[in-house]
Amino acid sequence: MCGIVGYIGHRPAWDIIVKGLKRLEYRGYDSAGIALINQEKGLRTYKKAGKVSDLEAFAADVDKAGSIGMGHTRWATHGAPSDRNSHPHSSGDRRLSIIHNGIIENYAILKEALQAKGHEFRSDTDTEVLIHLIEEIQASEKLDLFESVRIALKEVVGAYAIVVMSEDEPDVLVAARKASPMVIGVGDGEYFIASDASPIIEYTKNVIYLKDNQIAYVKKDELVIKGTDNIVDTPYIQELELKLEMLEKGGFDSFMLKEIYEQPRSIRDCMRGRIYPKEGKIQLGGLNEYADKLKNIDRIIIIACGTSWHAGLVAEYLIEEYARVPVEVEYASEFRYRNPIITEKDVVIAISQSGETADTLAAIELAKEKGATILGVCNVVGSSIPRSTHAGAYTHAGPEIGVASTKAFTAQVTVLTLISLFLAEKRGTLGQTQRVQLLTELEEIPALVEKCLEANEHILSIAEKFKDATNCLFLGRGTGFPVALEGALKLKEISYIHAEGYPAAEMKHGPIALIDEEMPVVVIAPQNSSYEKVISNIQEVKARKGQVIAIVTEGDKEVKKMADYTIEIPAANEAFLPLIATIPLQLLSYHIAVLRGCNVDQPRNLAKSVTVE
Ligand code: AGP
Repeated sequence: MCGIVGYIGHRPAWDIIVKGLKRLEYRGYDSAGIALINQEKGLRTYKKAGKVSDLEAFAADVDKAGSIGMGHTRWATHGAPSDRNSHPHSSGDRRLSIIHNGIIENYAILKEALQAKGHEFRSDTDTEVLIHLIEEIQASEKLDLFESVRIALKEVVGAYAIVVMSEDEPDVLVAARKASPMVIGVGDGEYFIASDASPIIEYTKNVIYLKDNQIAYVKKDELVIKGTDNIVDTPYIQELELKLEMLEKGGFDSFMLKEIYEQPRSIRDCMRGRIYPKEGKIQLGGLNEYADKLKNIDRIIIIACGTSWHAGLVAEYLIEEYARVPVEVEYASEFRYRNPIITEKDVVIAISQSGETADTLAAIELAKEKGATILGVCNVVGSSIPRSTHAGAYTHAGPEIGVASTKAFTAQVTVLTLISLFLAEKRGTLGQTQRVQLLTELEEIPALVEKCLEANEHILSIAEKFKDATNCLFLGRGTGFPVALEGALKLKEISYIHAEGYPAAEMKHGPIALIDEEMPVVVIAPQNSSYEKVISNIQEVKARKGQVIAIVTEGDKEVKKMADYTIEIPAANEAFLPLIATIPLQLLSYHIAVLRGCNVDQPRNLAKSVTVE
């Protein structure tokens, strides 16, 4: 979490930084700040609790001259969101300044030692400790900025992406990373530094992804990258595939709505060049090298967090059904701390939209140490998770900016469906005729998703009825269960209505006690193998006067007789239900949240990329 931007070159730094911070605001938005530097005026810092727009208003009349600067948008960890805890943070003498994404875990010990040497702190953050440590090292050892930062980082335990400036070296930025992302854009007589490529894309396509334990010395016409061991590394410059229009709302009111509507395209992109329905073949280039190993595995462990974990639950159904391999789905945060049994025979699939989730990364490292083969299913190209896995498949959904995952989820489910069929083909557990049939149906899914989107106005009318609800239950069976979990997560995270997802049959083991005439219950009730059972569950809800909103197959008559509201989805193979049934739930949450006046793109307390554990 937290977004960082740095600029050094010949253009006005303020404008580039503000624009960049707005692009990175999905990473955190409780406060923002900018520091500028130039030879005449020295180091100036402006910071404010609130969004980047609040910072702009606050700094409307300040002198913004300067072609070197850095900015930060914060997701608070240490210290409440406030002006004084906002970044950049300065050294005691205010000659040094830092922005930071991550957590300095040993900040308390370092702080105590620095206080004993007379350092006084102005904030409650871990970050301020680091700039005082740099100041202390610089003063006592008479080192330049780069060396002081390098030595200080040797004393730091934790995760960081930092940019540091000094009034004494007004033409230098020093940047470093460990377990937090950082990209350097290479321009013509200018460099850009950012948490991801989105602030950089309109200026240059040439970027360097800084690696863990690397430190960059950046001047407008010079870049030196070293390791913390002081050995020079040759940077690898790569070309970005990202396009500017992918980062804009394209006429929609919010990124979330745009991303919901992008799903026919994103699912299609995800399958492009990977499925050959006539031949019943699946081509996953990234997995080919491991095809032999995948033929003979005893178990797959899936690790992920949040929505990605829900995609993992869908995969459990599909992989066990088609490839007949036992699958365990684990929260990365639990898995990494419970001494799990992992052997060299295990295959671990790590799922992550951002590719930066700290718990998922740590769980990967643990499984790697124990010899497992790690496959990644990620969206952000070049992010940390794909770089730390042995092989994998990108989801190709394009940038997802709304904090609530929508198109990333359906793209993850699409890739995982392909992986299940790839495994089935390699392991000989699914005949060619079945694969031809399934792939032919899968190819039609984007068109069916388009049909689901046609229900938007009808879903808005249902949302109007439930906008004041305080609780909501989501029920489903089979692959409808992860869909229910995902529907509940969407509603709670963007509308702040308390919502829970349950396997429909579990309702009688507790949640049924909550049902009364005030309780909306969203039931995933398509005409598939559990249709009759789900109808019984709807009866149980209605018998207790709950209000049922049912997701039903087009033309359904049975459920329509008993549900208060129905939303139709096109008929499709049961295996692909999550790709279709999720769409109306995304729209329902979206409309309820908008009607309640919530900011759907930036829900309170959340951040898109969870780079702290
Ligand atoms: C859901 O809408 C959230 N964005 C969140 O649960 C997310 O899925 C989770 O933080 C994991 O993120 P990742 O996919 O980037 O690893």
